[in-house]
Amino acid sequence: MDALPHTSNPFRPTFGVSPLIWSGRQTVLLEFEKAILSQPGNPGRSIIVSGSRGIGKTVLLNEVEDIAQRNGWIVLRLSAREGMAQLLTESLVPEAVEKLEPSRKHHIEHISVAGVGSIGWNSDETQVAPRLSSRLRELLSLLKDTGVLITIDEVQDCDPQDLTTIAISFQDLVRDNEHITIAMAGLTVGVNNLLNLPGTTFLRRARHYELGPLTIADARSNLVETAAGSGKEFSEEAADYAASFTQGYPYLVQLIGFLSWEKSDAAITLDTVEEARPEAIRILGTNVHQPSVRSVPARQREFLDAMANLETTSPNGEISISDIASSLGRKLNEISDSRAKLINRDLIVSAGHGKLEFAQPYLGSYLRSDDRPIRVN
Ligand SMILES: Nc1ncnc2c1ncn2[C@@H]1O[C@H](COP(=O)(O)OP(=O)(O)OP(=O)(O)O)[C@@H](O)[C@H]1O
Ligand SMILES: [Mg+2]
Repeated sequence: MDALPHTSNPFRPTFGVSPLIWSGRQTVLLEFEKAILSQPGNPGRSIIVSGSRGIGKTVLLNEVEDIAQRNGWIVLRLSAREGMAQLLTESLVPEAVEKLEPSRKHHIEHISVAGVGSIGWNSDETQVAPRLSSRLRELLSLLKDTGVLITIDEVQDCDPQDLTTIAISFQDLVRDNEHITIAMAGLTVGVNNLLNLPGTTFLRRARHYELGPLTIADARSNLVETAAGSGKEFSEEAADYAASFTQGYPYLVQLIGFLSWEKSDAAITLDTVEEARPEAIRILGTNVHQPSVRSVPARQREFLDAMANLETTSPNGEISISDIASSLGRKLNEISDSRAKLINRDLIVSAGHGKLEFAQPYLGSYLRSDDRPIRVN
């Protein structure tokens, strides 16, 4: 193992990039490993992970892929976009087959040239599922005691029809006792919308994990352990302050850690974390808040701004809907449409009866400070 101290910043505030030190999420990882080590048909062999932006869905999916690979499984990774089933059938699975058995490709081409319909390409969409199943079966037949994991990130953006095709094929193979597993991840609201569509029974049967923030204690140990051995360590009070600043949001853990580390000469002190804080909020604003607020129509934006202003007088960040209505000078029923749309955009969440809160930490302060470009005629 690498015994040298890190000379570079050990924090990784980048979406999709796994952290140096992993925190929490143990249940998901342990159950997943148990599931792939068990028999076909184990309910833990289809999982769906949901959560808000920056909560750690993609890196969790990466971790799941690593577990599968360590156990000798083949991983086929999809990002939701059009033609996932097609991509699997025509590229990913044949490529995996080819890698395992280079002579196999020849064989298929030969038969397809000879015009055997079931193996030759067929452009008819309804044929995709059976064709995918037989391709996967071919791949699975090359494996001994291991199987195939399919992962789909950003699943909220996929075409439900496409997902259904993959589901049909998945279920086909499970029925035939094949070692097939699927892991999906997506934004909470998008995933819930998918689950509510008719014909997605398959998804509803998947083991569903909703990722919440880390505990503050986990966030704190992550900061301390990541910095340990890097040449710059957190003082006790700096670690306390930084951990509570993150509110348990994994992206903020990496971000505040990274910035504090950069700003420190030796030990990371309370002063350096305090200095890093506004910059962390600004970067969070640019990378997370700005893109998600950009396309919000004026009506909904007014709603958000009203919430942001009311938040300054709310000790726990919860804001009552009737206060929002009165600050906008509207009736409750006149703002319910905006409310629903903002929930759907993953910007606000219900906080119990008649109350709302922002779905992301520091979204309120971003809205209050929003340095939008000055409009010029
Ligand atoms: N369990 C964890 N422990 C420590 N750091 C984590 C953990 N999970 C995620 N992170 C860090 O948080 C950041 C965001 O993670 P990730 O890209 O997986 O988020 P996401 O939920 O996929 O976001 P998006 O919805 O925008 O795709 C990354 O910098 C990652 O290293
Ligand atoms: Mg992601």
